[in-house]
Amino acid sequence: MLAINRKDAGTPAAAGAPVTLTIDGADVTVPAGTSIMRAAAAAGGAIPKLCATDTLNAFGSCRVCLVEVEGQKGFPASCTTLVAPGMKVRTQSDKLSQLRKGVVELYVSDHPLNCHGCPADSHCELQSVAADLGVTTSPYDCKGANHSAARRDGSNPYFEFDPTLCIACSRCVRACDEVQGTFALTIEGRGFDSRVVASQDESFLDSECVSCGACVESCPTAALSEKPLAILGRPERAVTTTCAYCGVGCSFEAEVRGEQVVRMVPNRDGQANRGHACVKGRFAYGYATHADRITTPMIRSRITDPWQPVSWDEAFKHAAAEFRRIQATCGQQSVGGITSSRCTNEETFLVQKLVRAALGTNNVDTCARVCHSPTGYGLKHTLGESAGTQTFDSVQKSDVIFVIGANPTDGHPVFASRMKRRLREGAKLIVADPRAIDLVRSPHVEADYHLQLRPGTNVALINSIAHVVVTEGLVDEAYVAERCEPAPFQRWREFVAQPKHSPEAMAAVTGVPAEQVRGAARLYAKGGNAAIYYGLGVTEHSQGSTMVLGIANLAMATGNLGREGVGVNPLRGQNNVQGACDMGSFPHELSGYRHVSEAATRELFGGLWGVTIDPEPGLRIPNMFEAALDGSFKGLYVQGEDVAQSDPNTQHVTAALSALECLVVQDLFLNETAKYAHVFFPGSSFLEKDGTFTNAERRISRVRKVMQPLAGLADWEATVGFAKALGYTMDYSHPSQIMDEIAHLTPTFTGVSYDKLERLGSIQWPCNDAAPEGTPTMHVGQFVRGKGRFYVTEYVATQERVNARFPLILTTGRVLTQYNVGAQTRRTANSQWYEEDVLEIHPQDAEDRGIATGEWVGVTSRAGETVLRAHVTERVQPGVVYTTFHFPDSGANVITTDNSDWATNCPEYKVTAVQAVKVQRPSEWQRRFHKRNDEQLALLPETTDSRAQR
Ligand code: SF4
Ligand code: SF4
Ligand code: SF4
Ligand code: FES
Repeated sequence: MLAINRKDAGTPAAAGAPVTLTIDGADVTVPAGTSIMRAAAAAGGAIPKLCATDTLNAFGSCRVCLVEVEGQKGFPASCTTLVAPGMKVRTQSDKLSQLRKGVVELYVSDHPLNCHGCPADSHCELQSVAADLGVTTSPYDCKGANHSAARRDGSNPYFEFDPTLCIACSRCVRACDEVQGTFALTIEGRGFDSRVVASQDESFLDSECVSCGACVESCPTAALSEKPLAILGRPERAVTTTCAYCGVGCSFEAEVRGEQVVRMVPNRDGQANRGHACVKGRFAYGYATHADRITTPMIRSRITDPWQPVSWDEAFKHAAAEFRRIQATCGQQSVGGITSSRCTNEETFLVQKLVRAALGTNNVDTCARVCHSPTGYGLKHTLGESAGTQTFDSVQKSDVIFVIGANPTDGHPVFASRMKRRLREGAKLIVADPRAIDLVRSPHVEADYHLQLRPGTNVALINSIAHVVVTEGLVDEAYVAERCEPAPFQRWREFVAQPKHSPEAMAAVTGVPAEQVRGAARLYAKGGNAAIYYGLGVTEHSQGSTMVLGIANLAMATGNLGREGVGVNPLRGQNNVQGACDMGSFPHELSGYRHVSEAATRELFGGLWGVTIDPEPGLRIPNMFEAALDGSFKGLYVQGEDVAQSDPNTQHVTAALSALECLVVQDLFLNETAKYAHVFFPGSSFLEKDGTFTNAERRISRVRKVMQPLAGLADWEATVGFAKALGYTMDYSHPSQIMDEIAHLTPTFTGVSYDKLERLGSIQWPCNDAAPEGTPTMHVGQFVRGKGRFYVTEYVATQERVNARFPLILTTGRVLTQYNVGAQTRRTANSQWYEEDVLEIHPQDAEDRGIATGEWVGVTSRAGETVLRAHVTERVQPGVVYTTFHFPDSGANVITTDNSDWATNCPEYKVTAVQAVKVQRPSEWQRRFHKRNDEQLALLPETTDSRAQR
């Protein structure tokens, strides 16, 4: 069913040389490779169609789109017939009308036009084609064989399949194959018996379907339709906004009725997603109006006291008085703030501004600390800019795709679909991951190399790949000579050439057979355009920054930077990780990654803000916790981040939070951190505010308000209110003014404005005088730092060693249907697919311990103990176990340790030595957690919606 405001040109755009033809007497010029149908649409005409849509290759099955072409016999289908120079086409004639009418009457015979009450009424393509052709009933009149008794499938929580409305056009099947790449659907049978079947004739819920919704969107009738459409009715308006989940940053049309979202339709003009979406962005938005939302500000004196609902003003005054009291007694540096990668750029900028300007300290950090801070360090040092180098479109020009420590089908699903499309076209794939992630083998995609390394040995692996490149003469000498500093390159070359780095020598460390490493290295270096995509499996290690340096070294050495199809691309986990880093959230950097020790930078910011910026970097998150425990840090403002669940060594974190005298939490829900808070500012969801997010491509996209903030204030307004109560005025009436300030202060943003975003749709920074419309590909011609710089990357084994007591390595990750700490997705039907964190364990390790799938396993590390249900699988290698951290009571971070990256303190989530044993009951920590959770929920006021979460 078509989205509102949506025009469909029938077939995809082509990119050939211009061709001129005549359609209905008028000259039309279109690129070679264009269909007659699309050319007619470009000329302003419309040929009826049913099986064609412009997101899918033409199929030519319905025969509604017939045309006449001078000099050709018969009536070719306009969707499958390409234009030719001088071609003369007629799209309208009595004969064509008669033929089309005959076809539509046949369809209508099995799909009567009883449109009243149908969710697609007035947006159905069959209904509109029939109306255009004057078909109101069928001469066959549904008297013959029909499908009216076919059974509906309502198993999927978000959409329904009603086969009685299916016209067997195959658009859904092709959408699943071509756009999503899951191949979950087929048309079974022939002729009248044709029917859409999911997997092996299973329900949608039980099938391989990953609920991306591409089939639903492509369906011309209501055979596949979103469930809310039937309940809420047709949308009245559409607002273009950006997904608030992962770092792909998909653009959506939020279709709204009144103040309610009826459905989210991926924006076909969206430059990050090109009209595709995943189950989270398209369907899992219900958390925004979930009954658990807290919409009243609250305060309390002690964390064991009941919450008191108060006005916003009272909450601001209380928080400000507490922070000033603490600073007066314990010093200016005894307070700080944490920004969120889930909030907008403008909100993040304001929180760090509040900390630096209103509180007078650089004690501000961001949750990006715990995911991609090594990316900032590694890419800044080698290339000169703390960001990925490409657009997502760039992958279409890659010949070799090297995925390291990332699981795109789960973490970045829409980009994974783009990647899989390119792989189906013939690009080669190398995967370096301890687990057999889906990308290693999925329908029509198979990795050429799966380097299944031991967790914690990334640097050893990258050095051995580099060793092959250097010793087998695979270096792009001309590129390096022209673009990189010679002396550091020489040092690096001599370093990696040492025999100790050879794949043969390193195999004992990494566990990867040398021949595989050699093959992968040769393919990466000489296979054409080679692009690296990496994730938290690279950064969340004690050598996270070293590994990012190593990746950049490899890309420079092989000349794989500075053009389309290549590059070094961090896949950012949350929606605004890039933005949170860009906006000056780190304690040592102001926006645009400028160090607080630079006098000119401090003067620029301090001058505009009317304050003196401290030249000393402030505390990082782990240092804040340490300082809280030693009594020197007592006040913390946390916006949109749940450190009590997401940060490692939970017991250490909660001890630190308990030691604070004033913890202010701003969030949608009473999250785990808020259970230690003294002040609660109700947060606003992405549907309730204006702003921007910056995705993994450095793409700045607008977030637009769809409904009024449920708590009365958007997050940025709450920060402004808090600052005012602290005696510091922030004078903004709209987030566009905050962006203007960011642009004024940040060299890479000087050309960014809401007006320009309106005009261009989105902008990839740097956007300034040198690049007024943004920078799709970085480092073209030369690196941002001038010459690229190589770094020696010595492998140092993590301190986290396995031994007889802790013989297994635990590594962590995420699943498609849940997101981060799960605060949003757990409050949606996504939990039907994944309702608890489980422990993946290899059959051999499970057998040694007498553990079967579904049984409770006690997992103990040097930091703590928790209990998870086992899932015995060969996805993990022997000696390695794996879990996710989407559910607070699973306690995954009770067992992760304080080990962290040497340069940035990014926690080493990916390597924890553990023991796993069969147990019968939850851990001591889990029993305490549940007790405390019940106590905290009981302290919520009766008058707020929040009581609903009990
Ligand atoms: S929702 Fe997506 S994965 Fe599922 S059948 Fe439709 S297109 Fe395929
Ligand atoms: S379910 Fe919809 S898209 Fe799929 S074949 Fe039927 S009518 Fe076409
Ligand atoms: S891929 Fe990421 S940004 Fe896109 S819809 Fe899914 S969660 Fe949202
Ligand atoms: S639209 Fe051309 S054959 Fe169906």
